[in-house]
Amino acid sequence: MQEIRITPSILNADLDNLDSEISKIAEVADLLHLDIMDNKFVPNLTWNFEAAEKIIRNSSLPVDAHLMISDPDIQAPKYAEVGCKSVTVHYEATANLKQTLQSIRRAGARAAVGIKPKTDFSVLLEYRDLIDMILVMTVEPGFGGQKFMADMMDKVSKARDFIGGADIWLQVDGGISEDTIEIAREAGADTFVAGSAVFKAPDPAAMVMKLKELATK
Ligand code: DX5
Ligand code: ZN
Repeated sequence: MQEIRITPSILNADLDNLDSEISKIAEVADLLHLDIMDNKFVPNLTWNFEAAEKIIRNSSLPVDAHLMISDPDIQAPKYAEVGCKSVTVHYEATANLKQTLQSIRRAGARAAVGIKPKTDFSVLLEYRDLIDMILVMTVEPGFGGQKFMADMMDKVSKARDFIGGADIWLQVDGGISEDTIEIAREAGADTFVAGSAVFKAPDPAAMVMKLKELATK
């Protein structure tokens, strides 16, 4: 039985009261998912490194940084150095995936790679020994609140077969809610990002617990 992780995304939380938002889920979530966007790799802008570093250093939860930026090879190791538990770069944005995954690990974080909906799973085959988490995007990266793409489940199943018994987490991100989490779990995901489902819920902690329960059944 794989361990299940719920990693709430604060992208659509109340950003003026971030400490209080994080404290709502701190007891029940497994990691805090931090979406870094540079308005180049995706058409949206969030925290730069300096702002992210403050969140990472302050967070009582371990941080899972999702870098949706055009220069991940340069930036990713910095996120690992300031204490992220996991750092995800996008396959589509890296110039040297092998080297970047190695430097994330060397700096003490889990090295993760994400693929956008149009990217085929086979691009990751040669990197198995260097990867600690695979992120299969279940929406086009850039915004919260989009519809879950059930047609990505084929890719999730392929990733599950590929992982076999290795210590590689399999994450899905985009449109995960009470209605979709079981579909993704069934396909083989074990690590679930949920943004709007958690922070738009009247009781975010209860929603995290609900999602975990649905994925654990
Ligand atoms: C989208 C981000 C997601 C986003 C998910 O590009 O990577 O992490 O916050 O939001 P929901 O759960 O609302 O789809
Ligand atoms: Zn994300």
